[in-house]
Amino acid sequence: LLVNASTSLSRKIPDNLFGVFFEEINHAGAGGLWAELVSNRGFEAGGPNTPSNIAPWAILGDESSVIISTDRSSLFDRNKIALRMEVLCDYEGANKCPLGGVGIYNPGYWGMNIEQGKTYQVILYVRSLGSINVSVSLNGANGLQTLASHNIVANDVSEWTKVEFKLDAMGSDRNARLQLTTSRKGLIWFDQVSVMPSDTYKGHGFRKDLFSMVQDLRPGFLRFPGGCFVEGDWLRNAFRWKETIGPWEERPGHFGDVWLYWTDDGMGHFEFLQLAEDLGALPIWVFNNGISHHDQVNTSDIEPFIQEILDGLEFAKGDANSTWGSVRAKMGHPEPFDVRYVAIGNEDCGKENYKGNYLKFYSAIKDAYPDVNMISNCDGSSSQLDHPAQLYDYHIYDTANTVFSQSRKFDHSPRVGPKAFVSEYAVWREDAGTGSLLAAVAEAAFLIGLERNSDLVEFASYAPLFVNKNDRRWNPDAIVFDSSEVYGTPSYWMQHFFRESNGATLLSSTVQSSSSLVASAISWQRSLDRKTFLRVKVVNFGSSMTNLTISIKELEKSIEVGGSSKTVLTSSSVMDENSFSNPNKVVPVKSLLDNAGEDMNVTLLPHSVTAFD
Ligand code: AHR
Repeated sequence: LLVNASTSLSRKIPDNLFGVFFEEINHAGAGGLWAELVSNRGFEAGGPNTPSNIAPWAILGDESSVIISTDRSSLFDRNKIALRMEVLCDYEGANKCPLGGVGIYNPGYWGMNIEQGKTYQVILYVRSLGSINVSVSLNGANGLQTLASHNIVANDVSEWTKVEFKLDAMGSDRNARLQLTTSRKGLIWFDQVSVMPSDTYKGHGFRKDLFSMVQDLRPGFLRFPGGCFVEGDWLRNAFRWKETIGPWEERPGHFGDVWLYWTDDGMGHFEFLQLAEDLGALPIWVFNNGISHHDQVNTSDIEPFIQEILDGLEFAKGDANSTWGSVRAKMGHPEPFDVRYVAIGNEDCGKENYKGNYLKFYSAIKDAYPDVNMISNCDGSSSQLDHPAQLYDYHIYDTANTVFSQSRKFDHSPRVGPKAFVSEYAVWREDAGTGSLLAAVAEAAFLIGLERNSDLVEFASYAPLFVNKNDRRWNPDAIVFDSSEVYGTPSYWMQHFFRESNGATLLSSTVQSSSSLVASAISWQRSLDRKTFLRVKVVNFGSSMTNLTISIKELEKSIEVGGSSKTVLTSSSVMDENSFSNPNKVVPVKSLLDNAGEDMNVTLLPHSVTAFD
């Protein structure tokens, strides 16, 4: 491998090339990064129908002691359903309530992770015709052990009353649940029941362990909130940003009909923008362009959809006195968010109304926000687009061999016109399982190809980012979690090799031998002390150990040849995966390099990604 570090042959890599794509898929947000522990907190999961679907809430007691139903008596106009609990038993008399009372419980998203010593913020709304004595408790699996509890005792809650308190956990259970119980005969209504751990990231509602997994990737951008989630199978179930902002109690929630689950939309338009800011990443908003998987709005009728998006941009970018900017300010963020990119739809290019709708969105947004760059769903990698765009979207899910060979994908793409946004890439199916080394090695080669073509490729992100192990709608994914644990797949760890690439300088490098090797060299600056370092990455996609000579020419004095280490991602078998029981089976391993210099002989392990620093 010949590296020529001369500045005349080098080029700057875009500052935000490698980022992340967050989609509400696999319970990534609801029951994932969004730390709310109660699932279906407003009993709204059946939509506006009564009786609604209260799952996963379940009943404690039998028909002789309690009758649970829903009605439309909620305090909140956009989510009218409330839970009605008619208690037939009492603490005294002939029909005595069972020990512990009767009521309802919520197991959260496959169990709530309650940890001893931690505090949980509870908010709920209650109403009753008489006095109440309700126990609100966090209980271990099956309701047996009480981990924390609080009694709501009130004489007059004839109007809807907001009740707020903290619960301090005296024990731990990763499979815990929330119970609302009473032993008093009477009629009680509950609505919008929330339990939030008090230790979310900066109090912004993000589960800390999952947040730090993403933060560790140092993403340059955050694409959100989908994917197919944005489109919906049907337009009526698509993501509509206005339904996801404001006080959480007032959000209607919606059924994501592509990934087939209800979300209370605690993680809404505001929270996505906040997440991007917290990650130090550019927000890239993908919006619905009047097209779902099965229905489309005619271009002649698209005006209200355009207005909705202009309002969404004003919400994000407008000053605190503007109509929608003031709503954002009221939510706690008076400063505008730094939205410079939006994608007009997702994977809709071939659809009948795409071009017509696209052009209307494009010109309305350019008029109102000339600084906003627009991303087309049409692939401009082989020939130029026939419509204006600053970027075109490119998705690739394929076999390991194909993804590996696509490291050359953009070598001959047009250099005039829009830049490329590889917003979804992954090896999938047999080669990937639920996240194999093989997939990661092929993807690393693909990313090296993107670095080398980063005069054209502006952004790239793996997909999907998250999976809750209890709802695998898509395989593989980068980060796997359940209520209490998390691990990265090899594809997650592969992305760590590219953390220094954003804003770095790409040096000229040529592999002179084997076709199973793909390499790049960069110099990058450490923000801490502004020192510049050299990094050479080599992917060995072959199944044999390979010797390689790395020769570095014209190295400037200011570039440190580092602490001379190598970091390797590999494993004994190419289909090895990480798991909850063995989360570190395939992770980068760093060691000292004893022969570091401008000419060095190195050995590359079979199926490996190696960084020389
Ligand atoms: O990443 C999973 C899905 O793949 C996305 O929702 C969609 O854009 C693509 O088809």
